[in-house]
Amino acid sequence: MCGIVGYIGNGNVYDILINGLKRLEYRGYDSAGIALVSESGDLNVYKTVGKVSNLENFCAGKNTDAKLGIAHTRWATHGEPCDNNAHPHFSEDGNLAIVHNGTIENYQLLKDALSEHGCKFYTETDTEVLVQLIEYIKNENKCELIDAVRSALKQVIGAYAIAVVEKNNPNQIIAARKSSPLVVGIGEDEVFLGSDGTPFVEYTKDVVYVKDEEIVIIRRGEPLKLVDFDNKESKVNVDRLQLSISQLEKGGYPHFMLKEIFEQPITLTDCIRGRVVNAGEHVMLNGVFSNIDKFKEVNRIIIVACGTSWHASLLGKSLIQDMCQIAVEVEYASEFRYSNPVITDKDIVIAVSQSGETADTLAAIQIARQKGAFVYGISNVVGSSIPRETDSGTYIHVGPEIGVASTKAFTGQVMVFTMLALSVAKIKNTLSDETIRTLVNWILKIPSLVTETLNLDDQIKRLSLIYTYARNFMYLGRGYSYPVALEGALKLKEISYIHAEGYPAAEMKHGPIALIDSEMPTVIIAPKDHLYEKIVSNVQQIKSRGGSIIAIVTKGDTVIKELADHVLEVPEVPECLTPIITSIPLQLLSYYIAVNRGKDVDMPRNLAKSVTVE
Ligand code: AGP
Repeated sequence: MCGIVGYIGNGNVYDILINGLKRLEYRGYDSAGIALVSESGDLNVYKTVGKVSNLENFCAGKNTDAKLGIAHTRWATHGEPCDNNAHPHFSEDGNLAIVHNGTIENYQLLKDALSEHGCKFYTETDTEVLVQLIEYIKNENKCELIDAVRSALKQVIGAYAIAVVEKNNPNQIIAARKSSPLVVGIGEDEVFLGSDGTPFVEYTKDVVYVKDEEIVIIRRGEPLKLVDFDNKESKVNVDRLQLSISQLEKGGYPHFMLKEIFEQPITLTDCIRGRVVNAGEHVMLNGVFSNIDKFKEVNRIIIVACGTSWHASLLGKSLIQDMCQIAVEVEYASEFRYSNPVITDKDIVIAVSQSGETADTLAAIQIARQKGAFVYGISNVVGSSIPRETDSGTYIHVGPEIGVASTKAFTGQVMVFTMLALSVAKIKNTLSDETIRTLVNWILKIPSLVTETLNLDDQIKRLSLIYTYARNFMYLGRGYSYPVALEGALKLKEISYIHAEGYPAAEMKHGPIALIDSEMPTVIIAPKDHLYEKIVSNVQQIKSRGGSIIAIVTKGDTVIKELADHVLEVPEVPECLTPIITSIPLQLLSYYIAVNRGKDVDMPRNLAKSVTVE
């Protein structure tokens, strides 16, 4: 959460920082601020509650001349979103300004100690404590900023990506990271900082992914320098940023979410590309292929993830169990990390995360590694922390997902799980060549079948008007459709703020059926699969209690069509591939309901795209 940007160079500092913040708004958008150091050494800080556009309005007419600057868009952790708690934060003497993404866990202890030395605090944030600590050390020891930062960070427990600037020094930015992302962009005579590469993609593709406990010393006219907390210098490895500016634009769609829903035929093609081998005979993921023995001998697979990635993981479990006959468990990363899990070196832990930066998933990876497991990552963001912390893995390659509600990443994750299960089945010989070939052929057809499913757009737009003001929704599915129900409910609640419950359809009679009445619409995911007859009974149970039903059914369905109030027909695919198809109408339904309700679809309240705090 929170996005940070920094810039030193000869460009327009203010414009570069503001544009950078807009790109990072997906990380948090409750307040924003900027610190600018002018040629003569003045340090000007402007900050305000609300989005970056508010900050722009606030800065209009103010002095924004600068030689360097740092900026921040916030997702509040300590202290309510307000002007005062917005970053950057000053040290007490006003000489230092800091931006911070993360949380300082021992901030109260540090604050108490600093208070005893007479420090005064003006905000409720943990970040202000850090900048005060840096100032205190700097003044006490009469040392350079870099030495004060090193020393302060040794005392800090928590997660952070920070950037610090000082008054009277228009030539230096000090930055550092631990457990929160930080990327440096290296241009000609200019250096950029960002929580990811999006703020500076149009200026440079040369990037340095800062590692944990590394401090970055950026000085005008000098090469970039990386040191650890003991001042030991490390090598600067320059990578290439795999991102283009067009991927960060809406391309004519009113929202990123709608663009991303409609991109899915392309993103699924990209996800499959290069992975179907031997003229369509089978698929092979490199990460599996280069670790054949691990997958052949694996005793158990444990999948860890959060949110939508957790829903994709539930589907991963079914796919791997069905195709490879390996026992699979799925855990919320946040529970797994504190559960004292029993793991051996015969287990594989698969960590799934679109952003590759989710704090709980990263912590789960660390525990799994400590216990000797082989850790495999499934992620979207190239160069993010999770791919770097895992032993091997697969990128879903769906391009940047900007809308906070995950759509194309979900279908990409499910597709990767499908290919992973088929790769392992091939290695372990748990599926016949004929079955693998048939499924691979279906995989190749999926992008065009998704296009066909997207033709439901108009019908769903009209349908959404009927349910715009529903106060509750139930989502039901069985087997492969159960995680789709969970995902459908999550999509609706996060962007429309309507309460929605996802349930395994048969569990309904053990309690939730009490909620069914004419005010409670149920979305039921009922493609033709081996549980179809069972779900027909569930539909009847709801109907006989006066509930209205929106059913996602296979084209040509006649039975549920008779019972349901509305049906959305999707193309027929093998059971294990139904989730990719049936999730599409649910994405559209939540999108249109949220739009009808006038909600900020791409930046829903209280949420952020990348959850880098516990
Ligand atoms: C999905 O719509 C949500 N925004 C959220 O649940 C998300 O999937 C979760 O925070 C995990 O993120 P990750 O995939 O980047 O780890």
